[in-house]
Amino acid sequence: MNSRLLRLTNAAVIVGFLALPALVQAQISEYQEKQWLDTPAATSHIGNLTGNAHAATEPYRRYCTVCHGELGDGNGESAYWFDTPLFFKPRDFTTAVFKCRSTPTGTLPTDEDIYDSIGRGLDRSNMPPWNTFSAQMRADLVAWIKHYSPRWQTEKPGEPIVIPPEPEVTAERIKAGQDVFNRVQCWKCHGVEGRGNGPSASTLQDDQGRPILPYNFAEGGRFKCGTSDADLYKIFMTGLDGTPMPSFSDNIKPEEAWDLVFFLRTLQPFHTKAKELAKGLNLKPINPNAPPPSQ
Ligand code: HEC
Ligand code: HEC
Repeated sequence: MNSRLLRLTNAAVIVGFLALPALVQAQISEYQEKQWLDTPAATSHIGNLTGNAHAATEPYRRYCTVCHGELGDGNGESAYWFDTPLFFKPRDFTTAVFKCRSTPTGTLPTDEDIYDSIGRGLDRSNMPPWNTFSAQMRADLVAWIKHYSPRWQTEKPGEPIVIPPEPEVTAERIKAGQDVFNRVQCWKCHGVEGRGNGPSASTLQDDQGRPILPYNFAEGGRFKCGTSDADLYKIFMTGLDGTPMPSFSDNIKPEEAWDLVFFLRTLQPFHTKAKELAKGLNLKPINPNAPPPSQ
């Protein structure tokens, strides 16, 4: 054996040795994963539908593995291409941390929450809407996703937050909504006009240490977690877990939350009643240098 070949062989051995723990770990989790596939957690209930994880084996492999990975850890073969700042990494299902929930921050989402996310897709990311799939197939995929994390074995989903009926939008409510936006300091990240350019915007990172930008209301892109007024209410009252976008349920009362929804609508470039009413109000953006208002 010449010395060059010897060096190469040595290198291969060393690389192989280093890769060993990762391999063992992958095998362990694959073993565990198979166990969890046959537990009650690996089913889902959406309305009258019951989803079964086994039924999603093929669809998951065919449509999801490329991004979310065979082990559900978000390391599919395409994930590499998203590994640049400001591209969202495919969700790691082994941690069971989800952005779009009807349940309080830190808790597991409901089956419906995951089901809706699959059909809707997540705007401003590579997660496409899978709305051509049958309802049954989506329910099966929800069950499949739940077999990846031990959390589903021991925890129940959180209790969905209660959203009071939507009141009539009025000029007073829009103005009150701006006061809330000011008081709880949404503008620190989203900017005083909601353009995603607040003083903290450039420093934000998600829970994987990747840079992340606040939503720009002026661009009018679809929210990741649903587009209705109630969805918007839910977004800031439950937070987008895994991101710096917190839950404000401790700081905003339910009736104030509707005021805030109406104010946020005036920041978007759509023709809404809120926007029309806001014109007459002549609202000035808040002054970011003013002393912080008392809570
Ligand atoms: C082209 C890549 C890609 C494919 C294919 C893909 N996803 Fe995703 N998925 C993503 C990315 C990226 C995210 C994270 C988006 C974000 O954080 O904003 C995501 C997030 C999710 C979430 C998390 C939603 C939440 O509330 O946090 C679910 C559930 C999900 N995907 C399910 C699926 C299922 C089921 C399939 C297959 C039918 C699938 N994905 C296929 C890229 C993909
Ligand atoms: C610490 C920074 C920070 C604060 C404070 C903050 N946000 Fe966010 N917000 C973010 C980030 C980052 C995102 C983008 C998350 C993503 O794309 O996954 C976001 C996203 C959003 C979205 C879009 C959600 C979606 O589904 O696409 C809305 C709506 C929103 N924030 C509203 C608010 C409101 C209202 C407040 C104040 C009550 C607020 N935010 C306070 C950082 C913040």
